[in-house]
Order: sequence, then structure tokens, then C-alpha cells
Amino acid sequence: MYRIATERLLLREWKVTDSEDLYEYAKSELVGPNAGWKPHKNEEESKEIIEMFINGNDVYAIELKSEKKVIGGIGLHDRKPDEALSHLKQKEIGYVLNPGYWGKGYIPEAVNSLLRHGFEELDLDVIWCGHYDFNNNSKRVNEKCGFTYKFERKVKLDRLDGREVTCLYYSVSNSDYMKAR
Ligand SMILES: CC(C)(COP(=O)(O)OP(=O)(O)OC[C@H]1O[C@@H](n2cnc3c(N)ncnc32)[C@H](O)[C@@H]1OP(=O)(O)O)[C@@H](O)C(=O)NCCC(=O)NCCS
Repeated sequence: MYRIATERLLLREWKVTDSEDLYEYAKSELVGPNAGWKPHKNEEESKEIIEMFINGNDVYAIELKSEKKVIGGIGLHDRKPDEALSHLKQKEIGYVLNPGYWGKGYIPEAVNSLLRHGFEELDLDVIWCGHYDFNNNSKRVNEKCGFTYKFERKVKLDRLDGREVTCLYYSVSNSDYMKAR
């Protein structure tokens, strides 16, 4: 996994020693349920999730350079939300941030760096991002980063008691990205 540095952030691989930082926000009701998972019960659970991130190799830790602290996570996942476009080279972005750091544009900064990486280095055709209908903060991130609404569908959240929610999918195409650059 490449490391990606932005002005204020370092997107890097997860380490087991990040568990305290992860647990600080993963225990919050404001975070997991907006992203499809239950708050963590203890730091041990956060350690297990970090091991999953390390094995999966598709989620970056978001380190705030000024504090050398992990304040969130952002993934670039191999997913194809639209069956009709399954021939395209594509990824889906997903993210969470420690609520103590919301509202400072950190996630848009991280998303923009993954758009650049995805289109300019991985040569993707399209990048997706989704949010649940009740998640206005994530909707704002999508809008600010130039994503366009495509479709919505009901999804069942296996990691949130099988709850059913409506997920709105957005995307940016390579050509739109290059035009807007
Ligand atoms: C969605 C999320 C990652 C946004 O990250 P961020 O770095 O704070 O993004 P921004 O700074 O661009 O703020 C986005 C919006 O959040 C809202 N917001 C900002 N600060 C806030 C705060 N302290 N409390 C509540 N909402 C706030 C604002 O509506 C803002 O939009 P604006 O720029 O039009 O004012 C973050 O809110 C989060 O982790 N939420 C929980 C998990 C989640 O929803 N993940 C996404 C799943 S699809």
C-alpha cells in the first residue's frame, strides 16, 4: 500500500499500535452507525479490526501530521455497485473520522488525494462513494469533492443487526475528473 501525504494528513498502512486512536472514535455512536457498523465495545475489538485492515490491505489510517495521531480511516475498496458498469475499472471510497476533528475539511482533503491517486496512478475509469439517506455530513463531502448522484437502493447491514437502510451512490468518472482538474 502506497503512503499518500497531503498538506495536513498522512494516509498510511494501519499498525496494531493504532488501537488506542481507533478505539477513541470507534466507540462513538456518531461514527460506526453512520458507516454501517456497531460501536466498538473495547480496545481489543479495535485491535481485531486493525488486523482485518492489515490483511485486507485496502483501508488507510488517516494520521494527522501535526499530532502524529490516527484520527480516521479511508478505504479504496474493490466494489462494483452498478452491475451494468461491471466492465469498468473501478473502486469505492469509504471513510470515517473522529468526531473531535469534524468540520475541518480533513475528509475532503483525504478523498481528493484518493481521487488523484485512483485516476492518475491507478488509471481507474470510475470512483464511487455512497452514504445512507440520513447522513448529511457524508452527503456534503460527496458534493464538495465533485461526485454526482447516480442511484439509490436499500441495503441490509450485516454488521448493524441486519438493519435495512437506503444507500445513495455517487460517482466521478475519469473524464469528468480530468476536465475539472
Ligand atoms: C462524514 C465525515 C467523515 C465528514 O468528515 P469531515 O472531515 O468532518 O468533513 P467536512 O469538514 O467536509 O464536513 C462535512 C459536513 O459535516 C458537517 N459538520 C461539520 N462539523 C460538524 C460538527 N462538528 N458536528 C456535526 N456536523 C458537522 C457540516 O454539515 C459539513 O458540511 P459543510 O462543509 O457544508 O458545513 C464525518 O462526519 C464522519 O466521520 N461521520 C461519521 C461516519 C460517516 O458518516 N462516515 C461516512 C459513511 S458514508
